[in-house]
Amino acid sequence: MSETLANLYSETRQFPPPEALAADANVKASAYDEAAADRLAFWEQQARRLTWAQEWDEVLDWSNPPFAKWFVGGKLNIAYNCVDRHVEAGHGDKVAIHWEGEPGDTRTITYADLLTSVSQAANALTDLGVTAGDRVAIYLPMIPEAAVAMLACARIGALHSVVFGGFSVDALATRIQDADCKLVITADGGYRRGKPSALKPTVDEAVAQCPSIENVLVVRRTGEDVAWGEKDLWWHETVEQAATEHQAQPFDAEHPLFILYTSGTTGKPKGILHTTGGYLTQVSYTHHAVFDLKPETDVYWCTADVGWVTGHSYIVYGPLSNGATQVMYEGTPDTPHKGRFWEVVDKYKVSILYTAPTLIRTMMKWGDDIPAKYDLSSLRVLGSVGEPINPEAWMWYRENVGRERAPIVDTWWQTETGGIMISPLPGVTAAKPGSAMTALPGITADVVDDDAKSVPDGGGGFLVLRDPWPSMLRTIWGDDQRFKGTYWSRFGAGAGAGDAVTASSGKDWVYFAGDGAKKDDDGSLWLLGRVDDVMLVSGHNISTTEVESALVSHPSVAEAAVVGATDPTTGQAIVAFTIPRGNVDTAGDAGEDLIKELRNHVAKKLGPIAKPRQIMLVPELPKTRSGKIMRRLLKDVAEHRSLGDVTTLQDSAVMDLISTGMQSAKSED
Ligand code: WT7
Repeated sequence: MSETLANLYSETRQFPPPEALAADANVKASAYDEAAADRLAFWEQQARRLTWAQEWDEVLDWSNPPFAKWFVGGKLNIAYNCVDRHVEAGHGDKVAIHWEGEPGDTRTITYADLLTSVSQAANALTDLGVTAGDRVAIYLPMIPEAAVAMLACARIGALHSVVFGGFSVDALATRIQDADCKLVITADGGYRRGKPSALKPTVDEAVAQCPSIENVLVVRRTGEDVAWGEKDLWWHETVEQAATEHQAQPFDAEHPLFILYTSGTTGKPKGILHTTGGYLTQVSYTHHAVFDLKPETDVYWCTADVGWVTGHSYIVYGPLSNGATQVMYEGTPDTPHKGRFWEVVDKYKVSILYTAPTLIRTMMKWGDDIPAKYDLSSLRVLGSVGEPINPEAWMWYRENVGRERAPIVDTWWQTETGGIMISPLPGVTAAKPGSAMTALPGITADVVDDDAKSVPDGGGGFLVLRDPWPSMLRTIWGDDQRFKGTYWSRFGAGAGAGDAVTASSGKDWVYFAGDGAKKDDDGSLWLLGRVDDVMLVSGHNISTTEVESALVSHPSVAEAAVVGATDPTTGQAIVAFTIPRGNVDTAGDAGEDLIKELRNHVAKKLGPIAKPRQIMLVPELPKTRSGKIMRRLLKDVAEHRSLGDVTTLQDSAVMDLISTGMQSAKSED
């Protein structure tokens, strides 16, 4: 059999759940059996965790794949499920959001407060002529109004399109135009790295190119001067003056809820469309199952921005539908100091923390002494999302943050999947550092070879999803063809034939996630990065993730990014950019010695085939604003090409450093 993706890294450590947590877990091992016995009945049962105005007639209509309909005929209101029903149940005084501004100002918002604000916003939007089916762009910092605005849209059946507050005029304008938005909700600015950072000027420039926009609703956050045009309205003069009562109407289970643009690797951003009933069912259930949320006692904190899908599903819709108390933080992790996150955990006694590997590795680089200064004993479940988490970063998180007590859930999913798909269950799974372990109950994930055949344990290939799931994307906004082509045409019934495929082909439809993965000897799943990033070295397909993890397993390394650079002998050669840990000396010969040692270390861990041709020691890596390493850019550096567009970089000065690092720390022995 030809190898689709090599399996080089092996891991033997495994951590069973703490006994007390397992005994009291929201979801036990039996859930897997129940879901396997009858998948649709299982999802139907999870849908009943929500309050429906009308029950569905059919759980899933998959008669026109890949266009799914879940809970057909059912009706519900999302905002009612996230807010009103908790107040009606007597929890109006319970804190929904402990908000912490970057400068240290705070707000405490109860479920009753949230109901008032969402009702006022729903009334104000209605007064502005926004009705069900209209699109509203939201371009806000991490302030409570972001959640209020999203819930108000959902309440009246308008689709929100949240655009990350760090995006440029062009990015905002293209997204507004693609969805033909009627309204933008923004703020004068937000606080970032100790300073007010303006948003309104970006909106003004974007709106000048977007005739569909009728009004701009502006929250006053920083109080800085803003230019004012005739479409502009202050939030405090409209929303906060509106009537506080609003009757939520039920919407069809398949009524569109939101569009969220994902950039992918090439081409114009894709407007991922999610709908109402299936989406809320899965994000609510997975939040309950994966984080073991006990709404009475837990304090939950997801550090993502609402501009990403993690913020939609696991700040707004999942936690609020479950009546959680959560922390929302406006700023960056190192303002005013590098212990800020741990200070917030300590202050609010956070018990469930959900963050990203890029942050964990950054904290690792800053040093163990920083988290050690804080009382983190409230933490009982830790989550990770966004990228593969290297086994050593996982261990660092376990030891320095979870203090060897809290289980870690490494959650794999995508903007497109809407909710978590592959993850340990904290009260069930004996997790392995670096593995997302298994598909959740009710989800069918597999790893396949080029011919769509399931690979055996120990094999690597492409991650696919074999059955439709409730929170799956329904299409790409305005582009059904691209939806089919991107996700459904590589394997299964949709392969190659495109439109000509009929149900009579006898094959099932298979969703291709774009990620490489492997099954270890026990069948646990390991995510190996985007398949576009796989390196072809002397005829072997090697994942960047495995080489990065091998590098990070060396005690002197905090973070690594690996790319395949064109090479006359091997086709592609492995080039690694490596950030040393805070305390490591890399001056002069020490740097050269470390590079040699690291090359040998990788060869020892993964075999000689994976030995990097070149390692560069760098102080930073270029990342997108959502924290993903920009490997294409590093590839350009590795191949000495020009750098192209770097405007989405967190800090474009990084590239200068990398270029300098390249000249001084090159090793080609
Ligand atoms: C891509 C999706 C899911 C919300 C945030 C990102 C990568 C995500 C993991 C994980 C390995 C992961 C995948 C995926 N990814 N979580 N736990 N282990 N890789 O959403 O921007 O749509 O990105 O992120 O490559 O396809 P997104």
